[in-house]
Amino acid sequence: MNDPYPYFSWLRRHAPVSCERKANGLAVWQIARYAEVNVLLSDARLSKRPGRVPGYVSGPAGLNRHLVHSDPPEHTRLRQLVNTGFIPRRITALAPVIRTAAEDLLDGLHRRESLDLIEEFAGPLTFRMICRILGVPKTLDTPGLRDLLLATVLPTGARATPEEAARSERDLYAFLTRLVAHKRTAGAERAAETDLLGALVHARDATGALSEEELLSTAYLLLLVGHDTTLNLIGNGMLALIQHPDQGKQLAADPDLGGTAVEELLRYDSPVRDATFRVAAQPVDVDGQTIRPGEVVSLLIGSANRDPDQFEGPDDLDLTRHPNDHLAFGRGPHFCIGAALARLEGVIAFPLLLDRLGPVRLAVPAEDLVWRPTRVMRGLARLPLARC
Ligand code: HEM
Repeated sequence: MNDPYPYFSWLRRHAPVSCERKANGLAVWQIARYAEVNVLLSDARLSKRPGRVPGYVSGPAGLNRHLVHSDPPEHTRLRQLVNTGFIPRRITALAPVIRTAAEDLLDGLHRRESLDLIEEFAGPLTFRMICRILGVPKTLDTPGLRDLLLATVLPTGARATPEEAARSERDLYAFLTRLVAHKRTAGAERAAETDLLGALVHARDATGALSEEELLSTAYLLLLVGHDTTLNLIGNGMLALIQHPDQGKQLAADPDLGGTAVEELLRYDSPVRDATFRVAAQPVDVDGQTIRPGEVVSLLIGSANRDPDQFEGPDDLDLTRHPNDHLAFGRGPHFCIGAALARLEGVIAFPLLLDRLGPVRLAVPAEDLVWRPTRVMRGLARLPLARC
């Protein structure tokens, strides 16, 4: 968890396409090199439907009928509906809102000797933005909602007791049901003009374009991935800048570098480490081996983004790197819908953080940093900082 990169390097050299058989007999393939990950991300022979693997549990009950777990034609239909919330004009218009929210949060941290960048900046900023896009009213934005969401991506062993985990999932489901009911009473037609959830409720009620389960699942997915990704971009990115002070200084001196800097931070310590669930629906030959139908495939984005066959000096952080054809947002039909939003949040947040916080250092030794024990996401539980 703390530093997967030596293992990824070993995999790329010695076992770039490897298969592990789990105790229950399920075969899980790991693909480590850029060339194969790049191609397989768009390969339609790999299905995204967990239902193809008997007994495979992924995500909270009743909330799994969404984009990430669907193939065409469901995927195409849902993607068109969700896309309306992320059209470039809508995202660009959010720039002043993101800036104001980031400045407000930093105002509160200005004179502090120490802070936790995750809990006090990256988490609240990214969550506020996705709540705004979806149209989550402040009255419903319950304390603890972020924790309920983040807990759903922890492996079973890292969660509370099974009973507590089940209770959290029920609480989350109840919250989403209340949220959708609120949109209905608020008049989804009116809300549809301003927010994405209103638009989805309207599409459901007016034309039946999606089912109630798809509606709730999509709200869950967007609330989760709308922040537990950009939050990691800001956390992992600030850590990288602190550990490479020359690069941090370069960005502080030249905020126009923000665009290429964000691409490099996405590549260097990718917030989505492994691509999401895929299972072979047909035989797929990769590097002389055959993945058979029903076998699960894990595409290691974090490893592909450090592949020396694709990137010169892949373990160096170079904020001016160009070209930088990283896979941090995936490829093909499941390419990240929120990429423009995430990039915008990063381009605004990093120069602002460097400017307003001034010189900061890690408040604990790097080896004591706690990484959240998730497989797909790569992010810190806390990033304690202190003034230099
Ligand atoms: C730095 C931030 C982000 C990163 C690194 C990231 C990364 C990714 C990746 C790698 C995928 C493809 C996964 C796969 O093919 O298995 C993906 C899909 C997706 N992302 Fe993001 N993401 C980020 C931010 C966001 C944001 C802010 C949203 C907003 C809601 C979002 C929404 C989605 C959705 C809905 C999908 C599924 C698309 C589909 O299956 O068609 N992401 N993201």
